[in-house]
Amino acid sequence: MAPKDFENKVALVTGAGSGIGREAARAFASRGAIVVAADLNEGGLAATRDLIAELGGRVLTAPMDVSSEAQVRELIARIDKDLGRLDVAFNNAGITGQAHRIEDYPTEDFDRVISVNLKSVFLGMKHQIPLLRRTGGGAIVNTASVAALTGPGGMSAYAASKHGVHGLTRVAAMENAAHGLRINALAPGWTETPMVKEASAQNPGFAELATSAIPAKRGALPSEIAAAAVWLASEASSYVMGQMLVVDGGMTI
Ligand code: NAI
Repeated sequence: MAPKDFENKVALVTGAGSGIGREAARAFASRGAIVVAADLNEGGLAATRDLIAELGGRVLTAPMDVSSEAQVRELIARIDKDLGRLDVAFNNAGITGQAHRIEDYPTEDFDRVISVNLKSVFLGMKHQIPLLRRTGGGAIVNTASVAALTGPGGMSAYAASKHGVHGLTRVAAMENAAHGLRINALAPGWTETPMVKEASAQNPGFAELATSAIPAKRGALPSEIAAAAVWLASEASSYVMGQMLVVDGGMTI
């Protein structure tokens, strides 16, 4: 039985309609949190809501686009009005974009990946920080990637966005450390979610090749990444600030 260390705390999870976000939403709920599950994908959100309801957890769903400042502002205002507090924000929604060499990368696609993966984290934190601080501190966890440390060919927008998430996280941690608000990033390696399944479907054999090169010889379960996010959001990591926790089965050793 999971400890109820998030009892009555409010945890916002973006990208909660799939993969890592869904597992994190489930984990926060199982530890007593009231989860606000945000995602573009309404069908995915409904499935997450049902999973949490099955375990007797509490969840509100919020269909929204994390790259829209108006929608981010509205979401935080709704959380304030309906729940009156925010204890955890897991800024996790993201996309990979298609792979292209830089000289072939369509500029509008580059902008879209930066907007969904990086600008969203800026917008999220900009509007979350005042409510988190008013609540008394808490924690923000931003999903980066091993691509925040490496330069995967074809993935310029994705790698740039995730390097950016790392940098933004460090600045935000510096600005908020004295206010009891801890901000860290999480860098998953290869994780078995619809995101990588989609990429593998476009490129047969790629998944086998990629996972055979990982020292652990397998990809992560989404729950293994979610567990690290929950740890970074919990009191167990109370002195960890501005760090990027790499959870990658040894991929970047
Ligand atoms: P996923 O594709 O299963 O889930 C991502 C969710 O984000 C989807 O439900 C999608 O609808 C949502 N989303 C996308 N754009 C959005 C927007 N503009 N507004 C609101 N929601 C939006 O992917 P996964 O694997 O769970 O990815 C979660 C995070 O983990 C992403 O930031 C990704 O870059 C990162 N990551 C994933 C890795 C992997 O191997 N799966 C490895 C490293 C990082």
